[in-house]
Amino acid sequence: MRISVVGGGYVGLVSAACFSELGHTVDLIEIDPAKVEAINQGGSPIYEKGLDEILKEHVGRDLKATPTYESIEHSQVALICVGTPQGKGGEADLSMIGSAAKSIGLALQNCHDYHVVAVKSTVPPGTTENLVKPTVLKYSGIFQEIGFVMNPEFLREGLAVQDFMNPDRIVVGSSDKKAGDVFAGVYGGLDAPVIRTSLTAAEMIKYASNAFLATKISFSNEIGNICKRLGIDVYEVMKGVGLDHRINPYFLNAGAGFGGSCFPKDLSALGHLAREVGEDPMLLNAVMEINERQPMRIIELLEKRIGDLAGKRVAVLGLAFKNDTDDARESRSIPVIAELKKRGATVKAYDPKANSSMSRIFPEIDYFSSAAEALDGADACLVMTEWPQFGRLCTEFDLMKKRVIIDARRILSCKDAEGICW
Ligand code: UDX
Repeated sequence: MRISVVGGGYVGLVSAACFSELGHTVDLIEIDPAKVEAINQGGSPIYEKGLDEILKEHVGRDLKATPTYESIEHSQVALICVGTPQGKGGEADLSMIGSAAKSIGLALQNCHDYHVVAVKSTVPPGTTENLVKPTVLKYSGIFQEIGFVMNPEFLREGLAVQDFMNPDRIVVGSSDKKAGDVFAGVYGGLDAPVIRTSLTAAEMIKYASNAFLATKISFSNEIGNICKRLGIDVYEVMKGVGLDHRINPYFLNAGAGFGGSCFPKDLSALGHLAREVGEDPMLLNAVMEINERQPMRIIELLEKRIGDLAGKRVAVLGLAFKNDTDDARESRSIPVIAELKKRGATVKAYDPKANSSMSRIFPEIDYFSSAAEALDGADACLVMTEWPQFGRLCTEFDLMKKRVIIDARRILSCKDAEGICW
């Protein structure tokens, strides 16, 4: 099948690459010429495990990047993978969805074969039906030849290729059976249950999945905060809890909380939608509030250990929102660094990949190229990201004035580290 993918971010680029790996011919439509250039040279503008190998295999053969929508009229499916960032009031900003739908509509004016427009971007329920469909039809000028599908993604950053090729389920929401049948074919070859449902249910499955994963994390953090006061190890507790087959052991790691470009914005958009329809999202609000407060606990612990932070030098190891990525969006290190600065501490920062990302947020703090350099002469150390290499640190902590170490990700193996909630 010939597929046009609109948007070359980590979802669009990974989807385009993996669809070519599944045997399709793919045009990736991306407005950033530098990204188009990089991809067509066989390189990837983002780090995703396994992506480079797929691009090298398919670029120039059955995968190419382009800044234009010309490929749309020759493809059977157009897949919208543009961003839906958080708007000022917490709602999902759908402006890029609208402009992609318009461009697809215009490009379909000369198309006389059946065509499916599919939305993979995370959008509030009702968006495909009430924004994408009317916009495409308005600008395409034809009516009966276009089907509409909503196909949410469940890709974790850094593991997106693995998650795409090994899905737990494939969700296909569709406006009619034919659209769903045509679209389900693009995943031929992947061994996973296919859920056929409505457009709005597919949109909600994505939000509810992310909200539940975030809820598991905030739940574990609340249990951790209680356990720490009782001298109980929350990791022992959640290990016992997670063995219940109805619960499962995943996403029960207590620590600094969740960051990233998805959980915070999706929770906020779902909460905003709930209020719009007259529901009070009490649980979602609590999940977000626990997550907001968790990093501040690190500051309280630090003050307890070294007193007033003014003039103190604090090493922050870990800037990315999680390991194996250079992405610092909504990283839990951000509120911690902001508070350290506010209280007059000097921050010495190190991350294996995210120094440059964080320097765009905090250009004025010192970044180091190793943990040892950041630890040298520090009054305290906060470990904020679950980089496995931090687990091997021990003698390096002797470079500090005193070994005051707070672990926010249960990654350290040295015995004298104190846990944020253990
Ligand atoms: C998430 C969802 O997992 C994915 O399905 C969705 O498509 C996009 O959002 P991602 O944001 O890439 O993926 O990261 P994820 O691996 O889910 O971690 C999110 C955050 O939660 C990270 O900050 C991580 O450190 C934190 N986390 C994760 C915990 O604090 N505890 C856990 O047990 C798991």
